[in-house]
Amino acid sequence: MESRLRVALIGFMGSGKSLIGKELAEILNYLHVDLDKVIVEMEGLQISEIFEKHGEEYFRNLETKALMKVAKEKKVVVSCGGGIVEKEKNREILKENFFVVYLKVPFSMCYERIKGDLSRPKAQATREELFNLFKRREPFYESTAHYVFEEYRLKPDKAATLLSTVILS
Ligand code: S3P
Repeated sequence: MESRLRVALIGFMGSGKSLIGKELAEILNYLHVDLDKVIVEMEGLQISEIFEKHGEEYFRNLETKALMKVAKEKKVVVSCGGGIVEKEKNREILKENFFVVYLKVPFSMCYERIKGDLSRPKAQATREELFNLFKRREPFYESTAHYVFEEYRLKPDKAATLLSTVILS
């Protein structure tokens, strides 16, 4: 059985992983870890710079390293990057070590939040390309998650409150 002492939020860019994760950690009195921030600290470079300098595969390997580090913590909520499910190894680490929550949000809502965001290298793609990425990742999000949270109309604090009851149930 997956441990609820470690919670991982997964979902597409703009699904609210960082905001909800922060609120959720506060309610549960867990540590909040933003995986992208861990990577930025590890490398001393912004995400966009890592993509530019070293490419996506290098970034995905950093994600694995960072995730393995967080998997040793207890009482932690980790907000993962949207592409964490791309690698099978990451999906395995998630499933085995975390209670994985998929924040399922319609594409149009994610798109409105991320379009033109220069800090997100993947968000520079066209709407159609992003939609294809969303569709391709969806089955991975679904199969990696222990729980699918679809209350995307709720504000982050309300979503986190509801989610905390699920985690503590
Ligand atoms: C990515 C999502 C980003 C970040 C990186 C790559 C992706 O995280 O990890 O830019 O491939 O979807 P957010 O989902 O927090 O934007």
